[in-house]
Amino acid sequence: MGLTLGEGGTPLVGGDRMSERLGCDVYLKCEGLNPTGSFKDRGMAVAVGRAVERGARAVVCASTGNTAASAAAYAAHAGLEAIVLVPAGATAGPKRAQTRAAGARLVQVRGTFDEALRLGCDLGERDGIVLVNSLNPDRIEGQKSVVTEILDQLGAQPDVVALPFGGGGNVTAVAAALAEASATTKIVVGEAVERANTWASAIRIAEPAHAAGVARLVDEGRVEIVSLSEEELRDAWSRLAKEEGVFCEPASAAGAAALERLGVGDARTVVCILTGHGLKDAAAVDDDASEPVEPTLDAVLEAIA
Ligand code: F0G
Repeated sequence: MGLTLGEGGTPLVGGDRMSERLGCDVYLKCEGLNPTGSFKDRGMAVAVGRAVERGARAVVCASTGNTAASAAAYAAHAGLEAIVLVPAGATAGPKRAQTRAAGARLVQVRGTFDEALRLGCDLGERDGIVLVNSLNPDRIEGQKSVVTEILDQLGAQPDVVALPFGGGGNVTAVAAALAEASATTKIVVGEAVERANTWASAIRIAEPAHAAGVARLVDEGRVEIVSLSEEELRDAWSRLAKEEGVFCEPASAAGAAALERLGVGDARTVVCILTGHGLKDAAAVDDDASEPVEPTLDAVLEAIA
């Protein structure tokens, strides 16, 4: 068996309220149920597994948090060192906790994700160190499995698949997998208008590494990009939790937000890929600052009135 922590096999859940609103069947692909809580695990299993085969002693990545947590876990499982570069003060605490728990060397860089990625690329040139960002084709190869699974779970091709657009690695993987399956599914991607400082920290990426490839997919008419306001992102994220009971992290709602803006035209079956778990960024939820109550029924009734 190759390197695995049990990634993939995530649930495809009916999004009933969203289906009613958009007038088609909407399904939510819950990638937050992967071993480290995000879709990154699919590609990381392959990338770290192949790094081992090539005799690497360490993997390196730059990350807004999820790639970090995933690289750290798979490297730990494989017995490799993980070096992780994150933009200082710009990643969610639980993602750093996962990374450090797995024993990775976590370096907070005073700079942007894009600067951290350039440094990661430099380190990846060194002997024995393999870059496991999505510039590594093994990551893309591994991430294709989400499409195979969706096709299996639906038993047909969806008319539309929607997902976030950060660096563009996932769009690249999804497009390649759909093409390989001869599926004509249209891809809708949501990005933050405010790329450089969006509240959705996972996609706080000013210079997408796969920008040229994604632009090509747009020219070919296979991908449509929707640039989302902060409010659109927040609304979609909140609705998924409150109306569907699916708590994803803020960036993960970008595909859903894009669909809410565009509508679905004459599409009948739509799949929204929710890329990461809500607990990854629990601080995004307003904390309940209300006072505790006395342990009496009256006090509780008053509190919920
Ligand atoms: N959703 C989540 C939860 C992410 O963590 C990311 C990227 C994306 C969407 C965007 O995917 O970059 O392939 O377009 N996170 C990277 C990281 C940058 O470091 O964890 P993309």
